[in-house]
Amino acid sequence: MNLSITFSLALFWCSEALSLFQGVGTNSTYYNPVLPGWHSDPSCIQVNGTFYAICEYLGMSYGIVGVLFKTQDLFHDEAWSDPVRFYPTKIDPDIFWDDGKVYSATETVILQELDVNNGTLSQPPLSLWNGTGGVWPEGPHIYKKDGYYYLMIAEGGTGLDHAIMIARSTNITGPYEAYTHNPILSNRGTNEYFQTVGHGDLFQDVQGNWWGICLSTRSGPEWEIYPMGREASLFPVTWNEGEWPILEPVRGKMSGWQLPPENRTLPGDGPFNGDPDSYDFNAGSAIPANFMYWRVPRAATSPELTGQQGLAFVGRRQTDTTFTFSVDLAFSPQAANQEAGVTVFLTQLNHIDVGLVLLSSNTSSKPQLSLRFRTIGTITAPTPNIIPVPGTWANGPIRLQIQNTNGTHYNLVAMPASNTTAQINLGTASAALVSGGSGSFVGSLLGVYATCNGEGAAGSLDCPAGGNAYFQRWRYSGSTQQISATESIPSIANPEFM
Ligand SMILES: *[C@@H]1O[C@H](CO)[C@@H](O)[C@H](O)[C@H]1NC(C)=O
Ligand SMILES: *[C@@H]1O[C@H](CO)[C@@H](O)[C@H](O)[C@H]1NC(C)=O
Ligand SMILES: *[C@@H]1O[C@H](CO)[C@@H](O)[C@H](O)[C@H]1NC(C)=O
Ligand SMILES: *[C@@H]1O[C@H](CO)[C@@H](O)[C@H](O)[C@H]1NC(C)=O
Ligand SMILES: *[C@@H]1O[C@H](CO)[C@@H](O)[C@H](O)[C@H]1NC(C)=O
Ligand SMILES: *[C@@H]1O[C@H](CO)[C@@H](O)[C@H](O)[C@H]1NC(C)=O
Ligand SMILES: *[C@@H]1O[C@H](CO)[C@@H](O)[C@H](O)[C@H]1NC(C)=O
Ligand SMILES: *[C@@H]1O[C@H](CO)[C@@H](O)[C@H](O)[C@H]1NC(C)=O
Ligand SMILES: *[C@@H]1O[C@H](CO)[C@@H](O)[C@H](O)[C@H]1NC(C)=O
Repeated sequence: MNLSITFSLALFWCSEALSLFQGVGTNSTYYNPVLPGWHSDPSCIQVNGTFYAICEYLGMSYGIVGVLFKTQDLFHDEAWSDPVRFYPTKIDPDIFWDDGKVYSATETVILQELDVNNGTLSQPPLSLWNGTGGVWPEGPHIYKKDGYYYLMIAEGGTGLDHAIMIARSTNITGPYEAYTHNPILSNRGTNEYFQTVGHGDLFQDVQGNWWGICLSTRSGPEWEIYPMGREASLFPVTWNEGEWPILEPVRGKMSGWQLPPENRTLPGDGPFNGDPDSYDFNAGSAIPANFMYWRVPRAATSPELTGQQGLAFVGRRQTDTTFTFSVDLAFSPQAANQEAGVTVFLTQLNHIDVGLVLLSSNTSSKPQLSLRFRTIGTITAPTPNIIPVPGTWANGPIRLQIQNTNGTHYNLVAMPASNTTAQINLGTASAALVSGGSGSFVGSLLGVYATCNGEGAAGSLDCPAGGNAYFQRWRYSGSTQQISATESIPSIANPEFM
């Protein structure tokens, strides 16, 4: 079996920055990233004063598949159609409407006409442009303006060499003429805190002013500590008639065209990306719309996790440089090695955990309920820390907390939910453990997990019965956003994009 990770075109609400523009005014100041936390490969459009952003999600599939969903009512999940699937030969299919035809452009850059009703792609695929010579010409978008088709792509790979290139033609099929001043956007070869700038999309506001959105990584040129991975940044664009677009370089503090006033009165019921979480789960509670899963859940109800089979992890993005995340856990494991806890999770090969685990004891015949701090990663890991759960904690749920006072380290803390002064700091771990590694396309999530650490019948994916973990009080609150090597701002300082 050739199971691979692919980049599917899929609807995924990043969050929206929305509302009507009012009058011509002075330029605005705002802060990047506008969608903090893992929001890679962003695209954006504005329709009737509302901006819609969509990001990449990573799905497991056989080969490359594009999926198209239709709806007459964007804001209701049930109103969306089942997918129409199509099978482009390369990744990053972009959809472009022109004179009654629909095209799909993909990595390298290849163009095919697409029948949106049944997913049929025209053959043979047409080669439009190979970029300017860098690796991975991908993430194409086509714009039609002033008698030209502009073809904008990402190039250089999604690391430090990432850049945006552009070419144009008077015919969609080419030949395309590359801009002589490419790249039109990049932070490659700089000391900027925002790195990997690339893979973007251009769109207009209600005034007709142009903007762009792209991915970036808050890593500095060292590119060693960036637990939030690839985030979405906004930049102003000047695009005069008949000329090439001018893209403003991506920084933490930005100035550009006047932004719309904050407007939280929007259709739809999902939370805003920058808002805190405050959830109190009961049996059967729905899992909030901003949560993500590792593997597909069987039922989207309250976090009652059972281990290997079915849902074993659910979390939300780390969206702030510093934050506090805590969850109350009620857990009475029945068999040795049953474990549940909270985690900073990048992938199953890169995570930082504190959990309750039933461990076989060397000194007594009874397994002992313990608190365990442990990390899994590709760099030197701190030593696990195991302590027996204090006897006075036994009567109620235990609060597990992940907190930090800077962007480089996490502290993992436990306390009885009924007496938060009785805190124990079980361990401190470097955020380098959840930067890049096996998760260079994603960003860290903060969430809850359950596992039996491989126990259970041989060859079975089932854990020993019993000992389900119940996660109840869930809180996440951001404190600061780092916007340069030396500056941080309060997390609430970017109201337009909360
Ligand atoms: C906010 O957006 C909604 C939906 O687009 C719109 O109906 C409403 O008028 C907007 N409010 C303001 C103050 O702009
Ligand atoms: C935008 O507004 C026009 C005119 O009112 C309307 O016909 C159209 O359906 C609107 N589009 C969306 C996506 O709401
Ligand atoms: C897809 O639809 C088009 C237009 O109706 C039709 O010509 C084509 O045969 C269809 N392809 C398949 C595979 O059904
Ligand atoms: C891009 O490169 C491929 C492989 O070398 C070549 O077949 C194709 O003609 C090139 N496309 C263009 C537009 O130059
Ligand atoms: C674009 O080029 C193709 C291939 O040369 C040609 O068939 C087509 O007529 C051209 N379209 C226009 C609008 O010039
Ligand atoms: C406003 O922002 C735009 C886009 O960045 C820029 O071209 C323009 O010069 C700015 N205007 C002023 C007065 O700063
Ligand atoms: C029990 O002893 C083994 C071997 O000395 C050791 O590796 C293990 O960590 C011990 N277990 C506990 C729970 O202390
Ligand atoms: C960052 O936080 C960790 C954990 O609290 C601490 O050990 C470390 O000294 C801090 N680093 C700086 C530069 O303050
Ligand atoms: C709460 O914990 C503190 C610190 O361990 C302890 O001194 C205090 O007695 C505890 N309070 C209760 C009500 O158990």
